[in-house]
Amino acid sequence: MAEDGLRKRGRAVGAKEKAEGKKAPTLDQGKGTAVAASASLSKGTTLLVAVLFSVFAVFVYQDPSLVLDPINDFFGFEENAGILPPSTTFVADIAKRDAVINAFKHAWLAYERDAMGDDEYHPISQKGTNLTAAGGIGYTVIDSIDTMLLMGLQDEYARARKWVETKMSFDRDANFNTFETTIRVLGGLLSAYHFTKDELYLEKAKELADRIMPAFETPSGLPTSNVNLGQRKGVPAQDNKGLVSTAEVSTLQLEFRYLSYLTDNDAYWDAAENVMRVIKGASLTTGLASIFMNPTDGRFVLSPIRLGSRGDSYYEYLLKQYLQTNLTEPVYQDMYNGAIDGVHAHLIRKSELAKLTYTSELIPEKDRSGQISWRLVPKQDHLVCFFGGSLMLGAVTSGAQSLPVSVPPRPSQLTSTGKRDWQTGVDLIETCMRTHDTATGLSPEIAHFRIPSDKVVGSSIPQDWYIKGAKPGAPAPYDARYILRPETVESLFIAYRLTGDEKYRQYGWNIFKAIETHCKIETGGYASIINVDAVPVEHEDKMETFLMSETLKYLYLLFEDNSVLPLSEYVFNTEAHPFPIINPSRHAAF
Ligand SMILES: *[C@@H]1O[C@H](CO)[C@@H](O)[C@H](O)[C@H]1NC(C)=O
Ligand SMILES: *[C@@H]1O[C@H](CO)[C@@H](O)[C@H](O)[C@H]1NC(C)=O
Repeated sequence: MAEDGLRKRGRAVGAKEKAEGKKAPTLDQGKGTAVAASASLSKGTTLLVAVLFSVFAVFVYQDPSLVLDPINDFFGFEENAGILPPSTTFVADIAKRDAVINAFKHAWLAYERDAMGDDEYHPISQKGTNLTAAGGIGYTVIDSIDTMLLMGLQDEYARARKWVETKMSFDRDANFNTFETTIRVLGGLLSAYHFTKDELYLEKAKELADRIMPAFETPSGLPTSNVNLGQRKGVPAQDNKGLVSTAEVSTLQLEFRYLSYLTDNDAYWDAAENVMRVIKGASLTTGLASIFMNPTDGRFVLSPIRLGSRGDSYYEYLLKQYLQTNLTEPVYQDMYNGAIDGVHAHLIRKSELAKLTYTSELIPEKDRSGQISWRLVPKQDHLVCFFGGSLMLGAVTSGAQSLPVSVPPRPSQLTSTGKRDWQTGVDLIETCMRTHDTATGLSPEIAHFRIPSDKVVGSSIPQDWYIKGAKPGAPAPYDARYILRPETVESLFIAYRLTGDEKYRQYGWNIFKAIETHCKIETGGYASIINVDAVPVEHEDKMETFLMSETLKYLYLLFEDNSVLPLSEYVFNTEAHPFPIINPSRHAAF
């Protein structure tokens, strides 16, 4: 009886499939559940269940969406659910892809005209500046090279290479941020080498890494925040009492590991891996990580816990280290799973009205007797928007029953935590898109979510989130700016590759159009804006290097066909420099 019902349901779905594009995998799932359920029932209740089931089956026969919609909703699956085998190609949207290439040229050519070789670019004053008075280190040029190669911009690339060959120097007697220099410059050199096999880049990468390596010479091995590249010396941060950021020390591993793999020099690998050993040893029981660590004893310091600044890429690189090593390092999978369990238990919340999934921060507070309590603050940085895509990527790898899963994954292909993480990822991307519901269509640097106790002025406006301190007529608070950040489009790119759902291309196109409308400078380049909720916009005279290395690269890849940099073969560093997945010959000994 039940089987018959299922068969009918199958036919009904088959018929409806053509009309609505609802697909079979969810049906398989339904069938598995039904069969398992009836098998476990005692004989006495079987008849009753069978009768109830056939009544249910009749309803479902008439309206399959009764079953399919909740399942699809639950997993965030849309029209195309499950039809696409892993080898499916998504064709490029050539018009949109080429519009992104034109945007890159608009940014690059202005920089090249006004500031070639300088670390940073100011498109309104049409000037460059360097990070330090000691001279530039190729911050913008190196960060942009692999994007040019992907986009096929041969002439621009040839000029950039010439600059690297003839002008670039790391012999600068000044302090540079260890993490930023690693992800942007070392990362950019390594991916440029991967794409070109041009020894110039590998030589420069080795030289830079050798200048950074002394930063790891602390009692614990956690690298100092800064490094003097000219003196080859680690330099503790002046602020923050010499403490180091958790995300900064744990976001060097993809780069140093890949360099070690390319050069056969274990020293890079050892230094980067030792940081992970120290962090594992210091682990908090929740799996979460405070944002500061002490480089002397290698312990966490009482400090906020968050997925935003100084915390973000710790979680990102736990997963990516597992991926980079071709899933051969269970220690990173364990650390990742523990961390994501902790995030779900302590940081994920739903908003009051629209039930948007968001992440909050935990702030430690000491009372007079020295007791520590943790206050939950409903504050989400734009930076956190990488996390939706990252969770989805984790779900189909770390959270897969076996590999590869289909595109999008069928629920039955994921473990229970895989299903949870997929769902949270899908929901977080939607929340990030809601933070683009502003006058410009761009999202602010920081969004606060409504909680009953917040006493926000103007709280009659039924909106789930707000920009803290924003008042009509008053100067915009820092939180209101958009500085050309990539995190949302990064998640959209990953979500599109893992689902094939056109919705994500549409979201990305809307963001691209908003950037074109509000951030583009006629004379060349793009600028940050100081208030996403005011038009016409006011610009800030800065074009961050991650516009060309990340934002435009991820937008380009979103509209490119998916044979370019498949996620099964590449892992992107946190600055969007792609590295190939490697098969390591050694394994973590902790
Ligand atoms: C940045 O540094 C480079 C290398 O020393 C130098 O040629 C250039 O003039 C500097 N740019 C600015 C704006 O100071
Ligand atoms: C990763 O491992 C799989 C087998 O588990 C293997 O087929 C594949 O070639 C490996 N990838 C690389 C890049 O070595």
